[in-house]
Amino acid sequence: MTTLTWNQARALPKAEVHLHLEGCFDLADLLLLAREAGAPLPGPAATLFDTSTHTVERDPDGAAVKGMGVGTFLQFLDWEGSLVRTYDQLFVAGYRAAARESASGVRYADIIVNPTHWGAWEGRLELFLRAITDGFEAAAKDGLCETSLCVSLLRQQSGESALEVVKTMIDAEIPRVVALSIDGDETHAGDTNERFSPAFTLARDAGFRRTVHTGESSGPQSVWGAIDLLHAERIDHGVRSIEDPDLVKELVDRQIPLDICPRSNVEGLHIYPSLAEHPIEALREAGVMVSINTDDPAPMSVRLEDDYVDCANAFGWSIETVKELAANSVNASFAAAAIKQEILDELGSFEA
Ligand code: ADE
Ligand code: ZN
Repeated sequence: MTTLTWNQARALPKAEVHLHLEGCFDLADLLLLAREAGAPLPGPAATLFDTSTHTVERDPDGAAVKGMGVGTFLQFLDWEGSLVRTYDQLFVAGYRAAARESASGVRYADIIVNPTHWGAWEGRLELFLRAITDGFEAAAKDGLCETSLCVSLLRQQSGESALEVVKTMIDAEIPRVVALSIDGDETHAGDTNERFSPAFTLARDAGFRRTVHTGESSGPQSVWGAIDLLHAERIDHGVRSIEDPDLVKELVDRQIPLDICPRSNVEGLHIYPSLAEHPIEALREAGVMVSINTDDPAPMSVRLEDDYVDCANAFGWSIETVKELAANSVNASFAAAAIKQEILDELGSFEA
């Protein structure tokens, strides 16, 4: 085994396919936005990302949590989104997300945004999407990485409002808006795949790609539902698929990628107690097309290159295996064929 250095991990040509725009605000960004909005902070400034120090946020069942639970974390994202009120602020958020990706050596990123977190934009979805993708466009023109937007539904929202989102996506015809996604608290929402099936069917028929958060706080049954009812081409997380051998076989046979976020699962939301106990390696060895992603890099203090290094160390990956993971990220992405080929060619000649 060769040890992967941080510099090599950063230089590695790769894509990132599971990253939330809401998870890209640094502490200073948030404090400055709150200042501009005159909004109170939910907790002490210096420990704002540690939601256990907040006075108002608790998991939906009322229990105080240490660190972040999914419910508490989503409430924090609502607070963040509520601070962003102008076109320029959204443009900057899009631009900065692309810059963050480029700084980690990402050549292409599919970035998720969930409009339900951004209260000031209710009823103005098209302008909201245009402002973010204008930021993406400017970033690409300035030599930063290419980016596309995946518009995400919340597991808790109604089926009717989900259909409205898709109709706006169709009417707006924004080139960088490429996919429908869904995220949120799978455990507390229960099984919602049937509720969202019409929205995902409409999106598929209109030519949008589909990616679904599932198999994180929910079990394998929900992953089956995502494939069968939501026409998922990619699964965000999906780590609990490991609990069902038939599902693992299905993912392998159909080469449905899992967009895995090791640090988010371990230190962020405590789905697994340690990286050593995380199933990414077992899934990879079983032949599942897995990739490494950050999910919400700012509040979870993750840099993509660090995650590659940590996984390579934890699982004894060779450089060839690391390159295989990078290739998976590109192949799993919703990038245009020419962009994918360019990154794969670069990866082919990459010497660690
Ligand atoms: N939204 C942002 N991050 C999320 C996560 N890890 N799980 C569910 N929804 C999310
Ligand atoms: Zn996510």
